Amino acid sequence: MGTIADLAQKIERLQGDLAARLSEASDATDIDGLKVEFLGRKGSITLLFKEIGQIDPSERGEAGKRLNELKRHATEAIEQKTEGASDAELKRRLSEERVDPSLPGVYHSYGHLHPLTKVQREIEFIFMRMGFDVATGPEIETEHYNFDALNIPVEHPARADWDTFYIDDERLLRPHTSPVQIRVMEQTEPPVRIICPGRCYRRDTQDDTHSPVFHQIELLWVEEGLSLAHLKYVLEVFTQEFFGEGYDMRFSGDYFPFTEPSVQVHIKAPDADDWLEIMGAGMVDPAVLTAVGYDAERYTGFAFGLGIERMAMLRYGIKDIRAFFTNDLRLIKQF
Ligand code: FA5
Repeated sequence: MGTIADLAQKIERLQGDLAARLSEASDATDIDGLKVEFLGRKGSITLLFKEIGQIDPSERGEAGKRLNELKRHATEAIEQKTEGASDAELKRRLSEERVDPSLPGVYHSYGHLHPLTKVQREIEFIFMRMGFDVATGPEIETEHYNFDALNIPVEHPARADWDTFYIDDERLLRPHTSPVQIRVMEQTEPPVRIICPGRCYRRDTQDDTHSPVFHQIELLWVEEGLSLAHLKYVLEVFTQEFFGEGYDMRFSGDYFPFTEPSVQVHIKAPDADDWLEIMGAGMVDPAVLTAVGYDAERYTGFAFGLGIERMAMLRYGIKDIRAFFTNDLRLIKQF
């Protein structure tokens, strides 16, 4: 049978032990550990309560009182230490994470669109306002869409001009956006009014106005009663909208197997000496309309393929097309 004196000794030992351990504890994790060790379900103070049953019944009341006091003290001491630790942690963080509002801020430079993207979007926007939809087609084209359906059979000399980079016997990187005309007409009944922006590939030698990779915007309008006069009018409205005053436009004869008659269009910037070719265009050849199942007696149409780089050169006064692709930020950032 234990005595109250034995219990008192144990209480004193535990109190001393807890005080020493608490003074060593340096952070919230240590303190939480001590809470479990002393007051948890199997903690040393909790276990001491179980010893009450071994004490002489006349002393049990007193034993219970002392143990409850021990538990209260221990709980308070641990709480106090917890508060102290979080104060210390707060002080440490405040001093470490101090913000000095007098320091200059961190500046992030904003990105912006490439001048070619801007020009492309602007052109799209002008034609969308005129009622054209935007269509796209694949950059890897079949010979069928790139040549045959555009009235350029295998033996036709124009085929050699546009023979580019073949992926296999039948597929090649498209040299122009005209195949999208066919893809759209195959899927749509007239009237058709679309533009198709996209990347093109040619085995052109790089020079001031040619790049092996460049961008075109194709336009196609098929409806009853369209003539070359409508094409000319659309182009005049477009160039006026895009360039504003002071730019001259010139039409001259050209040849494309898929248009008849065919023209090419040049533009001269206000202070420039030379004209720059911007597009090939023409009335869609009836053979092309018939091949996609349109009634060529009833419908006529016109189309063009416009070089986006050339438009950007004229707009920004850039003399060398390579400037768009070398990505010298000193130049690109100006637009
Ligand atoms: C064609 O590509 C025809 N598909 C255009 C067309 C469409 C005619 C519909 C009739 C009806 P052309 O090869 O001329 O035509 O090219 C048209 C425009 O693309 C040129 O005027 C020029 O602005 C641009 N272009 C052509 N090749 C290059 C190149 N290597 N680098 C930069 N721009 C180019």
